[in-house]
Amino acid sequence: MDAFSKIAEHIKHDTHVAILTGAGISAESGIPTFRDKDGIWTKMDPNQLASFDVFLRDPVLVSHWYQHRRKVAEEHKPNAGHLALAELEKFCKSVTVVTQNIDRYHQKAGSKNVIELHGNIEENYCIRCKKFQEIPELKDNDVPKCKYCGDLVRPNVVWFGEMLPQDAIRKASETARNCDVFFSVGTSTVVFPAAQFPLDAKNSGAVLIEINPEETMLTPYCHYSVREKSSVALTQLLEILKKKIEK
Ligand code: OAD
Repeated sequence: MDAFSKIAEHIKHDTHVAILTGAGISAESGIPTFRDKDGIWTKMDPNQLASFDVFLRDPVLVSHWYQHRRKVAEEHKPNAGHLALAELEKFCKSVTVVTQNIDRYHQKAGSKNVIELHGNIEENYCIRCKKFQEIPELKDNDVPKCKYCGDLVRPNVVWFGEMLPQDAIRKASETARNCDVFFSVGTSTVVFPAAQFPLDAKNSGAVLIEINPEETMLTPYCHYSVREKSSVALTQLLEILKKKIEK
């Protein structure tokens, strides 16, 4: 039996599945990862772009960089990997996606239960009055200003040095500890607390599966490690699940 068929054996109508995703699942949509050869943090210093201090020091630079990333996300779309995870919901009791990505592609692909650990790039809020609001297209040296109090408006993402949303952490931790099968897909698992969830799941008795073309820090702890792109691996897994149902 190949690895996909063995993995499929663990997924039944009463199985609770949790999936941690990272930038790798969106790579085939055309969204750059962070730490690969052409990754964002391979080319740029996160300390110069992704912190509140830098935003206060240079709001034009940071706001325009996020506008660029928002446009890239809008111009591309979810790929077969995102779609397969959404469809997986038909084959088991529950599917919870815990994502480090800010592109909202899981929701766009149709996943119903998504926990965003690092926020998302679509929403923006005022740094003073905290009100969420749409921001206009920025030109030249524009910065987004709050329509209520006039202070700066920032993207609803987690920057370096900031706390992750506590509700998301609590839900993700519960999900990890209560699932039967845990997938880690397209993440280097070097950023905590996200990297802890697969280990928590395994320690609570879940089957731990990694899908990643490269080895990661998590690989030695996995029951199955699939060296494949996520779109290919997840589509193949879904095909096997469909055939199982037809039998
Ligand atoms: P990384 O760039 O660290 O890792 C991306 C992973 O995806 C690598 O392990 C690749 O081997 C893998 N990969 C690449 N192409 C793939 C494909 N087609 N299918 C499957 N896997 C593929 O990105 P993350 O692990 O998401 O945080 O990084 C975690 C966090 O670090 C990000 O959320 C971000 C960053 O700093 C914040 O900005 C707060």
